[in-house]
Amino acid sequence: MIMSSGLDVENIREDFPVVDEYIYFDSACLSLKPHSVRKAVDRYYSEFPVCEGKRSAHTLSTRLTKEIKKGRRSVKELLNASEVDEIAYTKNTTEAINTVARGMGLEKGDKVLTTDKEHNSNLVPWLKMKESVGIEYEQVRTDGEGSLDMDDLKDKLGEDVAMVSMVHTSNLDGTTIPASDIADMVHENDACFMLDGAQSVPHKPVDVEDIDVDFLAFSLHKMLGPTGVGVLYGKKRFMEELEPLIYGGGGVKSTKYDEVTLQDTPSKFEAGLQNFAGLAAVKPAVDYVQDLGIENIEEHEIKLNRIATEELEDLVSIVGPQEPEKRSGIFNFHLDQLGCHEMTLLMDERNILMRGGMQCVHSWYSYRGLEGGNRVSFYLYNTEKEVMRFVEVLKDLFH
Ligand SMILES: Cc1ncc(COP(=O)(O)O)c(C=O)c1O
Repeated sequence: MIMSSGLDVENIREDFPVVDEYIYFDSACLSLKPHSVRKAVDRYYSEFPVCEGKRSAHTLSTRLTKEIKKGRRSVKELLNASEVDEIAYTKNTTEAINTVARGMGLEKGDKVLTTDKEHNSNLVPWLKMKESVGIEYEQVRTDGEGSLDMDDLKDKLGEDVAMVSMVHTSNLDGTTIPASDIADMVHENDACFMLDGAQSVPHKPVDVEDIDVDFLAFSLHKMLGPTGVGVLYGKKRFMEELEPLIYGGGGVKSTKYDEVTLQDTPSKFEAGLQNFAGLAAVKPAVDYVQDLGIENIEEHEIKLNRIATEELEDLVSIVGPQEPEKRSGIFNFHLDQLGCHEMTLLMDERNILMRGGMQCVHSWYSYRGLEGGNRVSFYLYNTEKEVMRFVEVLKDLFH
C-alpha cells in the first residue's frame, strides 16, 4: 500500500484507469475523473436524461433537480459560503471571470488591478473592458520568486480602484498570494476583491468567509469533476447586483414584449439549457476531495514536488521560488539544452504527459522573451515512483 501524506494512493489509482498506461502530469490543465464521477454522468444519460425542474416538473426532471441541488450544496460547503444562492454555475473559470468583468457595471476611468502573471482568463477580460468601456487597467508587480509586491499593491490602491482581481495560486509557478491580507487592504479602499481560484480550490483549503473574498472563480473540471462545469461564487449582495453575461430562458421570472424580470441569483446566471450531465456529477467530485481531505491532497502534492526539486534543481531552472513548499503541485522549469515543445514530445514518447509552452500566461513569457516553460503538475493520483521515472528520463537525456 502506498500511503503518502495520509493518502492511500494505490487505492485511489484504481479509480483512474488512465494512470495504468500513462504518467499524467497535466492536472493543472484538466484533472482525471474518478469512477464515481464517470458513473454519475452515465447515470444522467441512462436514467434521467432530461431538463431540470425549472422548466419541466415531471418525475425525471425532479430527480435531476435533486442531484443539481445536492451538487450546489456540496460546493457551498466546500467553500464555506453562507448560502447556496452564492454559488452560480458557469462553463469554467473563464466564464465566471468574464461574468464579473462585464456585469459589475464598471465605467470609464474605474481602475482594475491584477498581478503581472495572470492566466489569459484574468487578463483578456480586463483588456477588453479597457477597449470597450475605457476602464483603467494596471498590474501589481511580482518579484523574481513570484511573490506579490505588497508595497506596489499599496501604492497602486487608490480611490479610482474599483476591482482587484488576482490569481490565488499561480498556474505558472504554483505560488499563492496572501489573499486574506489583500482582501483587508482592498476593502479598506472600498474596492471589490475577486480571486481566480482555478489552481487553489482543487488543491488547498479555500474558505471564502475566512479570506473575505467578494468573488471567486474556479473550474470543477480541474477538481475531478466533469468537463464544462465552473463556479462563480459571490457574496449574496454582489450576486444580486451583478448582471448576467448571458440572457434567456431559465434566467427570467417573466417577460412581456417590452419588459423582462430576471430570476434571482443564481438562476439568472444560468440561462439556457445547462450542462446537466456535468451538473449531476458535481457532488461526487466534491465528495471525493472532501473524503480524502484537501489538506492531505496539498501535502501529497508538495511531497512529490519536493522529490522533483531535490532531484532536478541542479539540472534545470525552476520557475518561481526554489522551495517546493511554496509551489503547491506545480513544477515548471526551463532547460538550456532543449525547447519546451521538444521536451513535451520526448516525454510523450515515453507516456509521460506534461505541458510545454506559455501555459496561457503569454504576457509573462513574452515580456521576458521566453518561448515558454516545461510544466509538470501533480495531483492526488500521482506517485513518487512516477516522479522518479520522470527524473530518470530527464537525467538520462541531459546528464
Ligand atoms: C490560474 C488559472 N486561471 C484560469 C484558468 C482557466 O480555466 P478554464 O479554462 O477552466 O476556464 C486556468 C486554467 O488552466 C488557470 O490555471
